[in-house]
Amino acid sequence: MSQPNGGNFDIVILGAGSGGYAAALRAAELNLSVALIDKAELGGTCLHRGCIPTKALLHAAEIADQTRESEQFGVKADLVGIDMAGVNAYKDGVVSRLYKGLTGLLKQDKITIVQGEGKLVGKDTVEVDGRRYTGRNVILATGSYSRSIPGLEIDGKRVIASEHALKLDRVPSSAIVLGGGVIGVEFASVWKSFGADVTIIEALPRLVAAEDEDISKTVERAFRKRKINFKVGKPFEKVEHTENGVRATIAGGETVEAEVLLVAVGRGPSTANLGYEQQGITLDRGFVITNDRLHTGVGNIYAVGDIVPGLQLAHRGFQQGIFVAEEIAGLNPAAIDEAGIPRVTYCDPEVASMGITEAKAKEKYGADKITSYNYNLGGNGKSQILKTAGFVKLVRLNDGPVLGVHMVGARMGELVGEAQLIYNWEAFPEEVAQLVHAHPTQNEALGEAFLALAGKPLHAHS
Ligand code: NAI
Repeated sequence: MSQPNGGNFDIVILGAGSGGYAAALRAAELNLSVALIDKAELGGTCLHRGCIPTKALLHAAEIADQTRESEQFGVKADLVGIDMAGVNAYKDGVVSRLYKGLTGLLKQDKITIVQGEGKLVGKDTVEVDGRRYTGRNVILATGSYSRSIPGLEIDGKRVIASEHALKLDRVPSSAIVLGGGVIGVEFASVWKSFGADVTIIEALPRLVAAEDEDISKTVERAFRKRKINFKVGKPFEKVEHTENGVRATIAGGETVEAEVLLVAVGRGPSTANLGYEQQGITLDRGFVITNDRLHTGVGNIYAVGDIVPGLQLAHRGFQQGIFVAEEIAGLNPAAIDEAGIPRVTYCDPEVASMGITEAKAKEKYGADKITSYNYNLGGNGKSQILKTAGFVKLVRLNDGPVLGVHMVGARMGELVGEAQLIYNWEAFPEEVAQLVHAHPTQNEALGEAFLALAGKPLHAHS
């Protein structure tokens, strides 16, 4: 029996998160017809359960800290409490305004939005509720889910993942955060600012272990000062329920008790039971393997976003979505350089980085070919005004371009735009040193670091 036809399109996109919807918008601009399929809301994890709501919580957390610390600036204010209903209303308001905007952007003739659970049933066909949508091209963009570790069940109440943490209607009195990566340090930061007692458990020897070692040291120092507890270098072993919460045991037998345990040990690709393998697509531990043109090697099927191995970041998804739409349209876009993708972790202090760490640069080019320089924010006027500590660290190839920019301190995420241009344009420190940075800005700290690396330091204390 033939299946009812959902229609024929230039592109059928499975998943309307950052990667999928960016591909749809770019394809529509290029006059290609698109079916955009999703079982949940348009916008995916980033908008509804990830980047946007988390950063709203972090902003509320910053306001709580500023209120608490206001006296340092001669302003008298008391922090009376955190009204989670109010915080959630603010956070949900941000999400719903962006959601409304996105829905408006996607409502156009060239894009057919299909609500429902899709499955790849042919090399050019996705089936949704018995209806078949056929595309000259298919883009897989099904995103990721919160992983756990074997034997640790996420029940959504005491043992929770980030999507549950975002929906809590109260501030937990205490929390264990399993994993000192990006999600772990961001939630630890929020909950501490809201008044919870927080302990991070991290198997690797340092927090934010993917970052340059100097960054980890500064984050750890700041967390110690903020009284965020952390236990590094010891893997988690088990969790038990107690009368009022949970008890976690870490290697060596030490235990920690708290009201909730947040599991933040990474995100896995959402690729199971979607028909991918049946169509001949290669999966590696669930990730879709593609070439550098994001083609799966099967038919005209491409993949974008968190299901493709690499940085699981919304802006990478946007860029990959745009790239594939242009590739399909025959525009032959330049391949995306993964090292050229900016990274920001929005804990307090904020971390922002580009390119490779000093350790990786030395490993790749040899220690004698690399020079690094740390500019302390203590010399930066605007950072003094904000009373933030931290640094801007540059890593360069001797007589060559900048290979890495690593920054830590309040608002450092906003500096990553310039760092991104410097890295991607393969700028030499001497070239950047000629450019004028406005005074007093934190941006100037980047300028000062380049002046110093070019051999003409201005406000640099050695
Ligand atoms: P992650 O990979 O950043 O960190 C997971 C951490 O858990 C690692 O440090 C790992 O060593 C640790 N871990 C794993 N098993 C463990 C065990 N048994 N005991 C103790 N520690 C253990 O993953 P995370 O934080 O869950 O984030 C997932 C993804 O979401 C990341 O790829 C990240 O890029 C993305 N994300 C990005 C954000 C941003 O750009 N600001 C914010 C939040 C998430």
